[in-house]
Parts: sequence; structure tokens; C-alpha cells
Amino acid sequence: MSTVYLVTGANRGIGLALVTELSTKSTTIVYATVRDLASPDIRELLALAGKNSNVRVVKLIAPSEEDSKALAKRIEEEVGHLDVVIANAAIDGQGKIVEASIETFINAFQVNTIGPIVLFRAVHSLLEKSKRPIFADISSISGSITNGYAPAEQAAYAISKAASNMFVKGISIEHPNIIALALHPGLVKTRNTTHLLDMFGIKDLSEIGGITTDVSAKGVIKVIEESDKSHTATFRDYKGDTVPW
Ligand SMILES: NC(=O)c1ccc[n+]([C@@H]2O[C@H](COP(=O)([O-])OP(=O)(O)OC[C@H]3O[C@@H](n4cnc5c(N)ncnc54)[C@H](OP(=O)(O)O)[C@@H]3O)[C@@H](O)[C@H]2O)c1
Repeated sequence: MSTVYLVTGANRGIGLALVTELSTKSTTIVYATVRDLASPDIRELLALAGKNSNVRVVKLIAPSEEDSKALAKRIEEEVGHLDVVIANAAIDGQGKIVEASIETFINAFQVNTIGPIVLFRAVHSLLEKSKRPIFADISSISGSITNGYAPAEQAAYAISKAASNMFVKGISIEHPNIIALALHPGLVKTRNTTHLLDMFGIKDLSEIGGITTDVSAKGVIKVIEESDKSHTATFRDYKGDTVPW
């Protein structure tokens, strides 16, 4: 039986790298979500799907219940179960607490916190049909109460990610059959991190430890593949190292 993955935010950045890596595995089927099936921004993903029949591109705008339910229905009809969900889609939320607009906070929470919750509610019964179900929320060290938050001045982002970490803990308690993971993908060169170049006065993110999407995705997938029930409710990075909550 095929291993069925669902990856959100799959048209660029870490999401695209995750799907690219998963597409090379012949026994894997990947549902790769995008916001807009007509956007020029999904060309690379469509090209990948054109070459690899195990990649299926579907629409999902977080936190749409309608999209999430339609996606679950399609997966149910086509393959009948889900093994791994990687809730990767997210947006930035820049600015300090008193400077960022309230809308920035609401948007960050809608996409980064409510999005994975709505998705989980739609797909958990499909996950329960797997022998080793995994829900991996792509969190961030920014959401670590111990080590996160500073220095990137992204209050809304950091707080929304800390909240999503508690959601992962909640899954582990309410759904003990599902391995619930919070994963920090590393500091990765994507559109999401370009603002850091100016902020830190650097030319390339590698100057402050940044990695490529490819390295991040391979690491995240290895961590997921090696996870079992003993790892539920853990917060780890792409190397498998523990991140303090
Ligand atoms: N890059 C890093 O250094 C880093 C560090 C820590 C954690 N992370 C986390 O890693 C994940 C991926 O980050 P990234 O750097 O690859 O980000 P990115 O390049 O900005 O890509 C974000 C993805 O999310 C999608 N997305 C945004 N809003 C959405 C919505 N409302 N509904 C559905 N999809 C939506 C985007 O689609 P569109 O193209 O349509 O906008 C895009 O595919 C995120 O969870 C991020 O918080 C990243």
C-alpha cells in the first residue's frame, strides 16, 4: 500500500522542496496544496506533477473549512486514507506588539494557527486509518517560549506559532493514535526570510546559519520517517534535535 502524504503551501519554499523530495519515492503519493490553481506561482509544482504521477495538486486556502473538507473527500475517494500530514503553509507577521496592526495578528493566527486546526478537523479520520499516522505541524523556533521570539521583530508570527505548538500537544492528548509533531525546519532561504537580509545587514542567509530548502526538506522528511509514538508531542528541528517549548 502507498504511503500517502499531504503537504500544504506546496508551490514554493520549503513546501515545494518537501514535495520534490517526496516525489522521488515510488511508493509515496503526495497531495500538494496551493492557494490558486491558476496562479503563475505554481508553475514549478505543476511541472513536477507533470513529471511525477504520484504528485497531485489541489486547492486549499487556509483556514477554509470548505476547501479542507473537499480535500479530505477527494483523498477518501481516491486512496481511502492518509499517513502523513505536513501542515507547512504559513504567513509572516512582522512588527512589535504595539506596532503591528491588529489585522497582522488576526491574519497570522488565521493562517498559522487556525489553518492547521481546520485541516486536522477535516482529515483526522483519514489519518486514523493509517498504521502510523503522523500530523507534523511546521512550527518555528520563533514560537518557542524558551528560545524564540527575538530578534526578528515578528510578534504576530511568533505568538501564532507558539499557539500552534499547544495545538500539537492537544492532538497528542485527544488522539493518542496519531503521532503529533511540532517541527522547526531551520533558518531557510525562502521568500519568507528575505526581509532578514536587510534586518541583519547581510547578503546571504548562510552568513547567519541559513540553509537551503533542499537541506531543510530532506531533514524534515527524515525526522518524520524516523518518528514513532514515543515522539508524539515533541518539538524538534530538521536535524531531529529537541527545541525547547
Ligand atoms: N524559512 C524559514 O527560515 C522558516 C523558519 C522557521 C519556520 N518556517 C516555517 O516553515 C513553513 C514554510 O515556510 P517558507 O519559508 O517555505 O514560506 P514561504 O516561502 O513564504 O511559503 C509559504 C507557503 O504558504 C502558502 N500560504 C500562505 N498563506 C496561505 C494560505 N492562507 N492558505 C494556504 N497556503 C498559504 C504560500 O502560498 P502562496 O505562494 O500562494 O502565497 C506558500 O506556498 C512555514 O510554516 C514557516 O512558518 C520557515
